[in-house]
Amino acid sequence: MGIKDGKFKTVLTYGTFDLLHYGHLEILRRASLLGDKLIVGVSTDKFNEIKGKTCVLPYQKRKELIESLDYVDKVIPEDNWDQKVTDIQDNDIDIFVMGDDWKGKFNELKVFCEVIYFPRTNGISSTKLRSILDD
Ligand code: CTP
Repeated sequence: MGIKDGKFKTVLTYGTFDLLHYGHLEILRRASLLGDKLIVGVSTDKFNEIKGKTCVLPYQKRKELIESLDYVDKVIPEDNWDQKVTDIQDNDIDIFVMGDDWKGKFNELKVFCEVIYFPRTNGISSTKLRSILDD
């Protein structure tokens, strides 16, 4: 979309992004189209432990995969639940994007930036891919 209202727009989204799949590509592509720059918070291994989530790929690998995408300008680590406001302020974020599995959960961020929930892509998830690898 490019520069709107004469201002350069920066978009922020978060995720674990284990076993990068087409649902991830779709949300990152759509998020990137909302602005000029897309920043992605990737959950660290320590944060996954706190969430009780086990990944196939370690943080460094998940980060490298996300960084390799043309849609993505910058990756930042997500290591706690409470960093979003600071990330928004530090990175001058205009739009916060999440999949609609999180619908309503981040509405308190609306005082800092626009908050948009995109529909999830049907039929794919990291959980599903991990279960196939476990077979
Ligand atoms: N996402 C999506 N469509 C999917 C899977 C994920 O739009 N089919 C979005 C999520 O809504 C989130 C981002 O991608 O905004 C990162 O999600 P993540 O939790 O890393 O991926 P999942 O495949 O949902 O992982 P898991 O099965 O471990 O929960």
